[in-house]
Amino acid sequence: MERLDKFLCDCGVGTRSQVKGILKAGRVTVDGVPERDNGRKVDPDIQTVALDGQVLNLRGRVVVMLNKPAGFVTATEDKVERTVMELLPPEYRRLQLRPVGRLDKATEGLLLFTNDGELLHRLISPKKEVPKVYYARHEGEATQEDVRAFAEGLTLGDGTKCLPAKLEPLGAGRSRVTVCEGKYHQVRRMLASRQLPVSYLERLQEGGLTLGDLPRGQIRELTAGEVELLESL
Ligand code: URA
Repeated sequence: MERLDKFLCDCGVGTRSQVKGILKAGRVTVDGVPERDNGRKVDPDIQTVALDGQVLNLRGRVVVMLNKPAGFVTATEDKVERTVMELLPPEYRRLQLRPVGRLDKATEGLLLFTNDGELLHRLISPKKEVPKVYYARHEGEATQEDVRAFAEGLTLGDGTKCLPAKLEPLGAGRSRVTVCEGKYHQVRRMLASRQLPVSYLERLQEGGLTLGDLPRGQIRELTAGEVELLESL
């Protein structure tokens, strides 16, 4: 437990006297209830402290990578399905992390989370064209004609136009696909449009980051170097 005013100062909200004014103005809530007492004791590991509705934490920006297993939807909540948020250890659930983009329920592999809204929007912006690399198992075998069609930019059955993408055949029933956008079920639909329906999909890389030996279902924080890599995109 620590004093609320100290916690607010440690989060960079302001000096002790500024914090006093902010508290007096009723801008701070503890577990949703306005709190004006600067000597109030709080436990930031259990309680949610917010300023003007923004939840505060001592950690500042956090970026983590999950090796997503199949069976979880990419959403912050869902009435029916299990969500990727359930895979975050409790100490991370309090940090207001949001998934960066989306992997389908059945898709496995690299999924980033961050509490930095600006970084999140940059990474999912179609303008940024962040490359994402997938490993797919599918029916049939990709040909050089398929490679060319991907490189030219596919048009899907419903008229959706895809940006040029890279298809690397890995032998019968296996391919690697690199796309720079994130349309709904994109890789599955792209391969299906070439009569290569997908039975398994895994994201291996995003923006130069790779899963490495992170076990399925586990998370790890990015290194400073990895965060820099994302910043430079
Ligand atoms: N493309 C897909 O079809 N599914 C994913 O989960 C990601 C990319």
